[in-house]
Amino acid sequence: MIMPVTNPLRIGLRQERVVPPQCLVIFGASGDLTHRKLVPALFELFKQRRLPSEFAVLGCARRPWTDEIFKERMEEALSTQIKESPKEWELFSQNLFYEPVDLQQTEHLVKLGERLEIIDKLRATHGHRTFYLSVSPKFYGSGCRALAAAGLLKDPKRSRVVIEKPFGRDFNSAQSLNSLVQSCAQESQIFRIDHYLGKETVQNILVLRFANTIFEPIWNRNYISSVQITSSETVGVEDRAGYYESSGALRDMVQNHLTQMLALTAMEPPGHFDPEAIRNEKAKVLQAVKLANEEKPWECCIRGQYSKGGSDEDPLLGYREEPGVNPNSTTETYVAMKLFIDNWRWQGVPFYVRTGKRLAKRLSEVVLTFREAPVHLFDAAGGCPTSNQLILRIQPNEGAEFSFEVKSPGSGMRSRPVNMEFSYDESFGEPSDEGYVRLLADAMLGDPTLFTRSDEVEAAWRLYTPLLEKIEDSPWELPVYQYESRTWGPTESDLLIGKDQLLWRRP
Ligand code: BG6
Repeated sequence: MIMPVTNPLRIGLRQERVVPPQCLVIFGASGDLTHRKLVPALFELFKQRRLPSEFAVLGCARRPWTDEIFKERMEEALSTQIKESPKEWELFSQNLFYEPVDLQQTEHLVKLGERLEIIDKLRATHGHRTFYLSVSPKFYGSGCRALAAAGLLKDPKRSRVVIEKPFGRDFNSAQSLNSLVQSCAQESQIFRIDHYLGKETVQNILVLRFANTIFEPIWNRNYISSVQITSSETVGVEDRAGYYESSGALRDMVQNHLTQMLALTAMEPPGHFDPEAIRNEKAKVLQAVKLANEEKPWECCIRGQYSKGGSDEDPLLGYREEPGVNPNSTTETYVAMKLFIDNWRWQGVPFYVRTGKRLAKRLSEVVLTFREAPVHLFDAAGGCPTSNQLILRIQPNEGAEFSFEVKSPGSGMRSRPVNMEFSYDESFGEPSDEGYVRLLADAMLGDPTLFTRSDEVEAAWRLYTPLLEKIEDSPWELPVYQYESRTWGPTESDLLIGKDQLLWRRP
């Protein structure tokens, strides 16, 4: 008899925590995020048997939908997933409810409270509620205030609020929003989303660093000469011009996702694996990050905007031609920056971050480049010896690779670089969950480790606010350089890193 072969790396893979009984209330239930990310993530949790039977989703929005309409809309949106698991959908959709709610109307909040009590009885959810604010950012503060005024946040053990990004648009607005939401609920009830923290490979930065002894001794200025953090996208602004025009890449990607990757890469080891210990270290390192040249930010920050490109068969519009975009827009769709971290571990090590839309490749990664060997004993097959690099591949091809020099075969003693690779898919044999699967489960479990605390958000905004102000007050000092769609961004960004005799990695 042939015994089935089990991949040893998969043993224990699905020993996941089950969400406790509760009702997840989604404000903005008719919006894009709900059908593109939230309900698919919940359905995935259901299929993985990580939702309890005492569970309900209450969609809320201003539209006068009924439970049935909400279910139909979700069914349309998830048609592909449902085709693969129709029976599971049949069962899962019994947990979907809908209540028309305008968060600005007190009487709607009263009705919401009554509906929640009915659901509590129906589903035995015992007043445990997670309120997810997937609404326009201008309603985050007033939404929390309305929930608090209706008495829906008063039990810190049974109620939580999840707040989507962007959390503020600069330091002052983030600080005011923090004060407002903290006057409505305790910090332990507030879950600020950064969906990058839900990515397996972003969490892996912590495990790789702190579960192995080989990295920590060399994870510092003595061995690392520079760090590159990239998140490049091939898509353009799509149908989000309304939001993106007033945001730009700095606010949309750098202040949150890239800065979170930087914090995990650069933080000190926490004493133990505990949400506050980890967030303390992240906040501490973020407070030490600064622009490489605060006096002359144009020397360390390059902004770009995509122009048209693509091929005859697949022509691509420039940003200024996109629907809803001002034809004279100076919103950046690309940013490259050089940062330093003012502490013992990282003094003098440049951290280069870059992000952009309509670039040549979709790719997020952290690249640590090690110092060159002090003496070059061997000729290099490629002309000059390469520095060792550790590449943490966030997406796609999730995994990591390490490049080092080996002897090139033959009679001489020439060296050449080779790669050692680890791939999540190949090793574990199954793709990682979408970030929202992990984050929704954690919020409902009350685990804040992968959510940003108030001081982290403020530290990130404190870092970029002077730059944002400079761009607003004297835009000519930080112009937007055009770059052709599906290239690697403006040539000026090559000069930024070229001044340090370095190149951006272009895999
Ligand atoms: C979002 C930004 O937060 O992240 C989008 O608002 C961006 O503009 C997206 O496209 C990128 O996320 P991911 O997971 O596709 O890298």
